Amino acid sequence: MPHNGTDIAAPTVAVVYHSGFGHTATLADAVAAGARDAGAEVSIVAVDTLTEDDWNLLDGVDAMIFGSATYMGNVSAGFQAFAEQTGRRCMNGAWRDKVAGGFTNSGAKSGDKFATLSSLAVFAAQHHMHWVSLGLGAGWNSSTGSENDLNRLGFWLGAGTQTDVDAGPADVHPADVATCRHLGARIALVTRQLNIGRSVSPAAPVPAASSAPTR
Ligand SMILES: Cc1cc2nc3c(=O)[nH]c(=O)nc-3n(C[C@H](O)[C@H](O)[C@H](O)COP(=O)(O)O)c2cc1C
Repeated sequence: MPHNGTDIAAPTVAVVYHSGFGHTATLADAVAAGARDAGAEVSIVAVDTLTEDDWNLLDGVDAMIFGSATYMGNVSAGFQAFAEQTGRRCMNGAWRDKVAGGFTNSGAKSGDKFATLSSLAVFAAQHHMHWVSLGLGAGWNSSTGSENDLNRLGFWLGAGTQTDVDAGPADVHPADVATCRHLGARIALVTRQLNIGRSVSPAAPVPAASSAPTR
């Protein structure tokens, strides 16, 4: 079913994440706070405790912001298990034309997080969603920059953050919290703009599926 947006005043956004040790969960809260500040109605959904109500919520929102810890240079097994549970929705186009974005956190400064963000973007594309970039220039990349810059690790595809492996969930870097807040606000804004556009020009009709879902 095409997604045409329902409430122009308050876009609905779900932050959908997996976190094994709590760091990504803290950043999910920051993404949610940014989206809320920008006027969205926000839900936070942990993919390892999904209920039927959560699935229904995801089917109804205007935008999803996916977050996963980086494990072994990619999304966590927990996030991938969630992704694989969406196969029928993918075939049916249940999330088609929703807005999407993503964030990831790792232990190393790089940590191969690009691979994780790429996986999240491909997941969104398989659902025919509209991926939104981070929308920030690179921080901490000049003699006057510092680790306190927004986007301190220089990602464009989404938010890439880093937390020391021996730190607690409350010890995520403040610049990373700010970067994630920015991502949430940006996606709320883009979603609102898209909803307003759709109120005068609805999303395109869905083309016929190339194959029927088998299960
Ligand atoms: C199984 C496993 C694999 C990991 N793989 C990576 C990795 O590829 N790159 C990296 O920088 N950190 C890696 N880490 C460290 C985590 O990304 C880091 O501790 C992160 O903050 C965990 O986020 P979470 O608290 O949301 O689970 C790994 C940790 C675990 C447990």
